[in-house]
Formats: sequence, structure tokens, C-alpha cells
Amino acid sequence: MKRNLHKYAVLCAVALLPLNKSRAQTKVSEATINQKINQIVKKMTLAEKIEMLHGNALFSSAGVKRLGIPELTCDDGPLGVRDEVLRFDWKSAGWTTDSATFLPNGSAMAATWNPALAHQYGIVIGEEANFRKKIVMLAPAFNICRVPTNGRTYEYYSEDPFLNAQLAVQAVKGIQSQHVAACVKHYAVNNQEEDRNTVNAVVDERTLREIYLPAFKAAIQQGNAYTLMSAYNKVNGYWCSENAYLLNKILKKEWGFKGAVISDWGGVHHTVEPANNGLDIEMGSSGPYDQWYFAKPLLAAVKAGKVPVATIDDKVKRILWVMYHTSLSANHPAGKMSTPEHNHDAYTIASEAIVLLKNEKFLLPLRTNSIKSIAVIGDNATRTFALGGFGAGVKARYEITALQGLQNKLGKNIDIRFAQGYRANYLANNTPEQNAGYDKPDQSLIDQAVALAKTTDVAMLFIGSNREFESEAHDRKDLSLPFGEQALVDAVTEANPNTIVIVTAGAPYDLTKIKKKNHTIVWSWFNGSEGGNALADVLTGKINPSGKMPFTFPAKLKDSPAFALDTYPGKNLTTPYKEGILVGYRWFDTKKIEPLYPFGYGLSYTTFEYSGLKADKKVYHSADRINVALTIRNSGGVAGKETVQLYVSKGNSVVQRAEKELKAFKKVMVEPGKTTTVTLSLSAKDLAYYNVKAKGWTVEPGQYKLLAGASSRDIRQVGTITITK
Ligand code: BGC
Repeated sequence: MKRNLHKYAVLCAVALLPLNKSRAQTKVSEATINQKINQIVKKMTLAEKIEMLHGNALFSSAGVKRLGIPELTCDDGPLGVRDEVLRFDWKSAGWTTDSATFLPNGSAMAATWNPALAHQYGIVIGEEANFRKKIVMLAPAFNICRVPTNGRTYEYYSEDPFLNAQLAVQAVKGIQSQHVAACVKHYAVNNQEEDRNTVNAVVDERTLREIYLPAFKAAIQQGNAYTLMSAYNKVNGYWCSENAYLLNKILKKEWGFKGAVISDWGGVHHTVEPANNGLDIEMGSSGPYDQWYFAKPLLAAVKAGKVPVATIDDKVKRILWVMYHTSLSANHPAGKMSTPEHNHDAYTIASEAIVLLKNEKFLLPLRTNSIKSIAVIGDNATRTFALGGFGAGVKARYEITALQGLQNKLGKNIDIRFAQGYRANYLANNTPEQNAGYDKPDQSLIDQAVALAKTTDVAMLFIGSNREFESEAHDRKDLSLPFGEQALVDAVTEANPNTIVIVTAGAPYDLTKIKKKNHTIVWSWFNGSEGGNALADVLTGKINPSGKMPFTFPAKLKDSPAFALDTYPGKNLTTPYKEGILVGYRWFDTKKIEPLYPFGYGLSYTTFEYSGLKADKKVYHSADRINVALTIRNSGGVAGKETVQLYVSKGNSVVQRAEKELKAFKKVMVEPGKTTTVTLSLSAKDLAYYNVKAKGWTVEPGQYKLLAGASSRDIRQVGTITITK
């Protein structure tokens, strides 16, 4: 009876599930969807199938009108839904309905250490994508921050695969909860912009599995990401768009990815290899579209027997599968654009992302009752970050600058005056000659700033970079602050003893001198539509800062593994990843190199005490879960959020190990004087290393140290457990 009922349901559903989705109101089973897809594919000609496998415009690939298959529309990207560009040109389409919510950049998101916010971010993106009728959002992007000067560090999350994975999964789930496909990118090992289209990243198997793939694996297996973007570069000799090992073997076979692989724009180099090795859709920036590798040449290759029809069918089925979970799904939401709720979400993310680096004189939170005047100095105080440089941005409905945020908050009672301080004379699309001199201070602007700073109670220096200086397609040449900012900092600090330095950037910079000479340092980001309001609330103490650095700040570039081993940007277009698994803090901690700021670092207006770390057992089997509890006490005077980080360390291992690895974390709110118990749970399997010989994960028996701390270098509680076979 049950079986018959099921059969009946399936038959009805097939009849009720035309590509016109309007009548399909219930969740449709995978079996039904597959059945429907098979029926459709049978009706398609080879030419129609091939049309679906390559771009027909900048941000779409063709559908099949006679069968009701829509175009697969997509859009960038991580910062929010990009403005509408012309169909065949990157110029703005001039729409008036595409002003979106500008969400904090990737490293800002990671600095929140709050997966629930990544989920919320995803919902905003998904709702706005629906409003704009986009089926695929080209986000999130979470390549590992291997090279601190990588031009796209601001778009990515962190240097740690676990933190990346926790955020990626939630961002994907959030986007897809709105029946919009996430496109996780850039798969894989796309860690530098220098030579990004040609460089061959040579990575050993263990490093690939332990560092560069986990967040992708999690996004696919836990997040169920519907699409994935192959990267521009080569990995171990093969372009990512035709890398059978990465695409067919690992992604599709091992991880069971059911969705579609989309190339990065212009990242395809052949027809037969990518077609047979796992790429599903070729995208790019310019026509003629019918000449692309996956257009007429692919049709010819199929006819010549070089690409099986079954392979083409598989690609089409994957695209239809994506559509049935998105635009053609039951109860597809209509979407919303830049609502007050979206703005509020942008605010919450921004406020949890800001990192307090130093507060030695307790100048923060500002004593707004006694302060009468503030000098706001620096181009970044009045600059917006939604657009700029080469790469995806957002036409923000609005963006509160730092100066506006302070004026909104304090303008009535405090005299706030602005001086530009430096000239941000660097454009991403300029030649080096045109940009010459961008690193020089402007003495007359410094003089004006100093004159102003001398007259006010407090001076706030807004330095850092901007979206032109940190940009897709090129890396920074070093960690120096641009625009002669150090000279400005020195002069203003000299002029006003109450100088607060606020750095706005998306990647590590050299703050050595500032860390030494300045007593108050705050780190902000390309922090979204509400960035200025969030910052003002942090500076005034309405929000207690809780951001923690998602990457290590090297004291000097040479300390960073890729530079220490001279493997960046590579020679003869080859970058050997000689540091192996020792990326980020794994390198600094193992090699005992003091960083400028460690991974996971960030202060609060209160203090937290850690005590009583206890694992629920002493000895675990390799299939067990490990539950670790500890007590956090807010020992200061205000409520605050602390991110408790649990690292694991394995001594005397049969393989090389990092000094410690992040395996769990939790952000908790604690009221002043109160304690809370934090429970962190991991699986003994999470302690495994990738065993190259066995081609699988091995949990090594023996003793492990559990290290709970406030950063990778601030371990407060230690415990020991044993794993048996
Ligand atoms: C970037 C992708 C982006 C695509 C479309 C490429 O250059 O690498 O991240 O999604 O352009 O804008």
C-alpha cells in the first residue's frame, strides 16, 4: 500500500511539475526531479544541449525556450549582488532597481567568527538575488589566505581551513535557503593574483587535502552547494577547468557533487579536456560566444566522437538539477532588495567584525560626555568601499562612511572636524608609471591635519587601504601602508596625545611602528553599507568589540612561509607550495616566529578568564565524539562576546604536524561578573591526518593536547586526551 501510494505521488508530481513551476507547491523528491530531468533531456537536440554549456552573455548561459528551460542567470558576488551590467559589456546597464545591500567583505565576515552571521549574510544575498532574478550567486569565495599580499585576501575568509569551512557551509546554506544557487569559488589553490591565469600551483596530496580542500568539501557535503567555480590557475600541471583529479575524481566522485561546475571567466583553454574532465559550463567576458571552446568546437568534438554524448547529457542534467532546486523549485521566493532588515544584518556583521588591536590608555570606549572636539583625519574617513578597483563590487543603496557614522552618533554634542591627511592616488587599472609616487606623503595635507589635531581633544586617524589598492588581478608588492600614511600617523600622534588609529583594510599590513608607538589601534574592514555606524558604535562603546583576526599579521613579509621559502610568485610560472601544511599560524607557531598579530587575536572592552577545561572522557575511540567544556568568566565591567578557540596539538606524531590546529570555536556573550560554560564538540575523526600511502584519513592513536585560548598565541587552558584505535 505504502509503495503504491509513493508511486502515485511520483506520477502526480511528474504531471504537476512542468518547467512552469507555478503549480508545484510542495517539496518535490529527488527521484521525481531526476525523472523529470531525464524526460526533458530526451527531448533535446545535441545543439540545444551544447547551447546550455557556454555563456551567451556576460552573466548567463542559454536555456531552451521551446522546452521552457530558462537562461541560467548569475551574478557576482561576495560583497552583495553586483549592479546590472550590460549584456555584452562590463559597463553598467544603468538600472535604477539594482541598488543593493553592501555586505562586509570576506575577511570581515571571518573576523566575526560567527557562523550564524555567515548564514544571515547568505539569506540577504539570496533574497536580493531573487529580486534581481539571478539563479546563481558567484559567492562565497574562500580560498586560503596563503600569501598576505594577495590582492583578493579581502574577498576570502581566512588562513585556516576549519574557520573557512564553518563559515562557507553557513553562507551556502543561507543563500540556498532562498532557492538561489551558491557558487563556491575558486576551486582550487587559487592563492595569488600574480600570474593567476597561468601559474601552476604544485601542492602535495596531504597539503591539498588538509589545507586547500576542506572548506570546499564541507561546502559541498554539508552545505550542499549547487554550483562551484573552477579557478584560473593550474594545480599540479593541469588547469583547474580541466583538472580531472580535482573535478571528476575528488569533487564529483569522492564528494558526490551533484551540481554544475562553472569556469571562472575566461578560464577555459581547450574543448575536449575540460569537457571530459568535469567542467560543465564555460563562462567568459567576450564573444563571439558561438566560437567558445564549449560552443561550436564542442559540438564538433562530440560529432567526432571525442566527447561522449553521455558526458554532454550529464552536464545538461546537472544544470537542470540546479534549476529544479532554484528558479524552477516549488515555492520559489520573490525576493527583496535592500530592506531595513538587510541593512540591519549588514550592521550586525560589521559590528562583530571590527577588531580592537590595542587600547593601552583605555581611551576607548570614548568618554563622550567629556570630549568636546574630535579631529577626523584621513581619506578613509570619507571614502566608500562598495566599489573600486578591478573586480566585483556593489552599487550600494547607501554606504555610511566613518565620518558620517561619527557625525550621526556624536555630531550634536561634539565638534567633529575633518582633514584629508593623505591623497589616495592609486588606481587598480593604472600602469605602474601612472601610479608612481602613490607611496609618498603629501606634506601640505599632513600640515593641515597636524594643525587640526592640535586643536581637538581627540584625533582619529583613518588610514589603511581601499578597493583600488586591494584589488583582483594584482597582488600588493609588500606590506607597507600606502599613500605615505606612516608619516601622517607619526605627525598627528606627535601633535595630539589622544590619537586613535583606525585601519580600514581587508588584508594584513605592516603596523610594526604603529603597534610600538601608538596606544590605541582599531581595525575595520570594507565593512558594508552600515560600516560607519557600526564603527561609531564600537568607538563609543554601544558595541563591545568582539572581532578576532582571521589571519596572521607577519612582522615582516619574509616571516611568512611562501616568502621565507621563496616560493612566491614562483619561477617559470610554477609555485611550489614548499611549506606544505604549514600555512598561516601553523607555520609561525611551529617555527616559533613571533608574528605582529597572531591568528585569532582581538581585544574587548572587558576581560575574560578561562578555567576548568575538561573533556568528557580521558580516552576516546577513533569513532567517538569529544566534548570539551570550560568556564569563561567576564572579569571586567561591561558585557562582551568572547570567541573561545580550541586548538589541538599532537606531539611525537608519525607525520609532520603543525604545532597546533584549530578544531572548534564558539562565540559567547557573557555579562559582567558572570560565568558561562562553553562546550565545544569535535569528532575524534577531526584529528586525522591525510595518509598519502593509505589514500585516506588516519586517526593516529596516542596523546593529544587540547588547547583553549583567546588566540593561537594566547592559550589559557590545556588538557590531554588519549585516542585509541
Ligand atoms: C573572478 C570571479 C568572478 C568572475 C565574474 C572573475 O575574474 O575571478 O570571482 O566571479 O570574474 O565577474
